[in-house]
Amino acid sequence: MKIETLRWFNNRLEMIDQRILPAAFEYLSYYTASSVAEGIRSMVVRGAPAIGVAAAYGVALEALHLSEEPSTLRQAQGERVGFNKGMEEGFKVLAASRPTAVNLFWALQRMRKVWESVAAQTPQQVAQRLLAEAHEILAEDIRINKAMGAHGAALLKDGARVLTHCNAGALATAGWGTALGVFRSAVEAGKKISVIADETRPFLQGARLTAWEMVQENIPVTLITDNMAGYMMAHGEVDAVVVGTDRVAANGDVANKIGTYMVAVLAQWHNIPFYVACPLSTIDLNIASGKDIPIEERSVEEVKGFRDYHWAAEGVKIRNPAFDVTPAELVTGLITERGVVLKPDVQSIRKLFG
Ligand code: MRU
Repeated sequence: MKIETLRWFNNRLEMIDQRILPAAFEYLSYYTASSVAEGIRSMVVRGAPAIGVAAAYGVALEALHLSEEPSTLRQAQGERVGFNKGMEEGFKVLAASRPTAVNLFWALQRMRKVWESVAAQTPQQVAQRLLAEAHEILAEDIRINKAMGAHGAALLKDGARVLTHCNAGALATAGWGTALGVFRSAVEAGKKISVIADETRPFLQGARLTAWEMVQENIPVTLITDNMAGYMMAHGEVDAVVVGTDRVAANGDVANKIGTYMVAVLAQWHNIPFYVACPLSTIDLNIASGKDIPIEERSVEEVKGFRDYHWAAEGVKIRNPAFDVTPAELVTGLITERGVVLKPDVQSIRKLFG
């Protein structure tokens, strides 16, 4: 089954509602930047590259929507103040949707550059150009994931048992996936690999999404709770770890789903390679080290219980940081579309960008 996390259909963006997977499979439709921002904020779509693609479509949708307003048509003849103001608001609401995944800001910057390059054209022409760019970002993401997949698959031996955390699959991208893309490519290359999926408390991306994706593809997968990773490693049941990332700093520090750091420390202790599948759009050269990466703190309700049922003691103080930072020293290699960077540091990362 080909998973189309986001798709353009009948002049609107459709996104799989990942909050209800795997119990139900449904698409939701989006027409404006603010509705896409709400889809990102509420986790209908999640995963760094998918958030970036959604934001790009959010900008295009806003341009289409504004260009259809009668006042905007009038502006085509002269002042385009209303269109520009609406577009700025669209960018602002999208940028405020989630803080950690840099792909969101990367995509917004790319869309802004395109907008600036055609600013003299009519709003309708601007909207069509922005839509074409959003389509290109989506297609490019899949191409990049396949390139990363090929580089990463070469690192896994036949029969490898690979542990992953969170969901860095087709659902976290426009398709194929980053970490799960490496597994898909390894299988496509004829390797018999098996996956160990951390449940990934509290949002359960591992249990709900990674496990579902692997089951759909008939890739052998075993689900464990997060606190079982050490046991599996100590018993020689893990050959490698491959995870995705939301932002990599210029020195190679890696922000990813909360719990990733714990897995990296365990992997080093047990001498197990720890790889991070990372498109270049996830590397933030403006951030010197991981300590400057903004970490989202989500609602305590996610930790307290599920929906109306609370298992935590009433009155207890709860924290819910959604991401953590793994220092570069713990990373065996970054798998990028331009190849694998072993022991990433400032120099090797800068080299990647030529
Ligand atoms: O909170 P989420 O589900 O958006 O977090 C997702 C992750 O942490 C993924 O591992 C990361 O975005 C890499 S996705 C290719």
